[in-house]
Amino acid sequence: MRVAAILVAAGSGSRFGAGRPKQYADLAGKPVVRWAADCLLPFVALLQPVGDPALLAAALEGLAHLPVVPGGATRQDSVRAGLEALAPFSPDIVLVHDAARPHVPARTVPALLAALARVPGAIPAVPVADTLKRAQGSLVDATVPRDALFRAQTPQAFRFATLLALHRQHALLPGLTDDASLLEHAGIAVELVPGAEDNIKLTFPEDFVRLERILAPVMQPRVGTGFDVHALTAGRPLVLCGVVVPHPLGLAGHSDADVGIHALCDAIYGALAEGDIGRHFPPSEATWKDADSAHFLVHAAGRIAARGGRLSNADITLICEQPKITPYAAAMQARLTELLGLEPGRVSVKATTTERLGFPGRGEGIAAQAVATILLPA
Ligand code: CTP
Ligand code: MG
Repeated sequence: MRVAAILVAAGSGSRFGAGRPKQYADLAGKPVVRWAADCLLPFVALLQPVGDPALLAAALEGLAHLPVVPGGATRQDSVRAGLEALAPFSPDIVLVHDAARPHVPARTVPALLAALARVPGAIPAVPVADTLKRAQGSLVDATVPRDALFRAQTPQAFRFATLLALHRQHALLPGLTDDASLLEHAGIAVELVPGAEDNIKLTFPEDFVRLERILAPVMQPRVGTGFDVHALTAGRPLVLCGVVVPHPLGLAGHSDADVGIHALCDAIYGALAEGDIGRHFPPSEATWKDADSAHFLVHAAGRIAARGGRLSNADITLICEQPKITPYAAAMQARLTELLGLEPGRVSVKATTTERLGFPGRGEGIAAQAVATILLPA
């Protein structure tokens, strides 16, 4: 059985508003229409998108699909354009799906295909739960019995030849909002399979919030800590949290010895459970001699992104008697924020002394501790 799918995406989304058609809105990290395509692709050999060729090709980039064909003035016209484009491939079965439905449960398409072994058409539907009223304006006319009433969803599945013939025959049948209507009109059997409340058609702005709740990954907080020490020595610049601080002494180390960034990197690697800075950048490698530690932090941020996560906040404490850090704290926060690609307000740099006690108190070295909270997909 060769299964094809038509993704109708030529609507203007007038009830949704928002400037551009709703099917291109970014929903939990990808365009609505891409979510819809991803739901269908595991089940189909051919995917025929219908709509604006440039916008659709961009939204579906990298996915296997036939060249986009433009849609028509009504949904029915758009479906027909997709059917005509598929006709040369003569698929056995066609699924017709609204680009505005980004969440089709995995069980839906198999249920539809199973039904097509019995009847020429099958659609997912959910029983109506609310009491139904017919009204003239705001005045109730009557209660409509709701038993035997269902809300029809997509994808709807058909034997290809049947649907193509009906669309060609009834191109002028007005006001149809789905494809099963054409079969009903012709007296051809359509079977219901269980739909899903989560298979929401993005229609009004509030639907977007519900879909985001369903599709956005649940994020789990993870915390990591870091600690680092470098000795103060003559003849080196003092680099702290990415900022050169005027001081007679600098920090000794293989790289630029930016103790603040090193502690922060270790906090991030720790939160990811990916070891420490020495594992990613061994001091034995000549490449990292006098290296700008900014490079290490950008790598750590990249590891968060690679895991699909984000940095929620970081807090660094520099521990030294001299120099005084406060005048540079804002510049340090800004530099770290920039390196991490964050919005302002998520990185804190502060300092403390040890009351002249111990190695920091004697001015022999500077210590730094850091804590980072990251959010990773559960
Ligand atoms: N559609 C289409 N061609 C049309 C009209 C609609 O391909 N001429 C598609 C829409 O892009 C959508 C699906 O049919 O994926 C369902 O239509 P609907 O939810 O009504 O979307 P819009 O027509 O875009 O929205 P509205 O009615 O609010 O303008
Ligand atoms: Mg419409």
